[in-house]
Amino acid sequence: MTDNNAVLVERILKLKKERNAVILVHNYQLGEVQDIADFVGDSLGLSQNAAKTEAEVIVFCGVHFMAETAAILCPGMTVLLPDRHAGCPMANMITAEQLRQKKKELPQATVVCYVNSTAAVKAESDICCTSANAVQVVESLDNDEVLFVPDQYLGHYVSTRTNKKVHLWPGYCPTHARILPQHIMQLKQENPQARVVVHPECRPDVIALADEVASTGGMIRYARRDDVQEMIVGTEIGIIHRLKKENPGKKFIPVTEQAVCPNMKLITLEKVLWSLEEMRPVVKVPEATRIKAKAAVDKMLAIV
Ligand code: 13P
Ligand code: SF4
Repeated sequence: MTDNNAVLVERILKLKKERNAVILVHNYQLGEVQDIADFVGDSLGLSQNAAKTEAEVIVFCGVHFMAETAAILCPGMTVLLPDRHAGCPMANMITAEQLRQKKKELPQATVVCYVNSTAAVKAESDICCTSANAVQVVESLDNDEVLFVPDQYLGHYVSTRTNKKVHLWPGYCPTHARILPQHIMQLKQENPQARVVVHPECRPDVIALADEVASTGGMIRYARRDDVQEMIVGTEIGIIHRLKKENPGKKFIPVTEQAVCPNMKLITLEKVLWSLEEMRPVVKVPEATRIKAKAAVDKMLAIV
């Protein structure tokens, strides 16, 4: 750690105590931000942690929909997102109005929204899911017909794991779309012993080449297995920091250095400190939307 970072970290930890704050960090964040976390995890783990924390303030180091989910679950708490521009382009690929229109076309379908969506879209949905539990959530439904929004690739992956009819919305993650089959073929040739693990936001032709399809939390667990010594990692490259830190001696190969989510990288130690000093930017959800969105998130949390 640089001297400058050490000073920042000391000030953050002191202020965190004074404010009774908890720092929740996604697996794609910069390494130095992951290292100050009370909890590092995937979207599901972060929501579960937010739901049970007794702190007064959550500093959310991730993107907007993640902080918004914490605000949905914890109405009495202050949720800070250290850079208010840290959005998720996929979450913005469907609006609540567009979803209302689609529901009119498919009134018989149950609406499942990926957690990478706005609070307003969650409020229009029957149940939420994350990449860790999407198949389980869809399988839990009584209805055999589902409208899955907004990620077409995760929705397609789910459709291959269930007999239900899954209607897709044409959203996608621009970062995972940079991961291509030819990258994986090449790396498999160079590293024949390595397991290929990819995120379900990847394209179907990438998923077809994988030994394992997992959320970022699932990838962390998979890497701990004794029979895994080398892993070709098909997701955002921020996860490599944690994989290496937790598994010294094992080899982790990112599928492509191009798989960078620029929004995730907007959060820095400086911004975490400013955010705790100034207690902003605060992420809030209008109460009527929050109550409806919470019903969709709670239904998910009840089955995982
Ligand atoms: P995870 O829930 O698997 O961490 O994924 C979140 C995300 O935004 C992936 O791009
Ligand atoms: Fe959104 Fe993709 Fe970034 Fe995840 S990696 S936050 S889905 S843009």
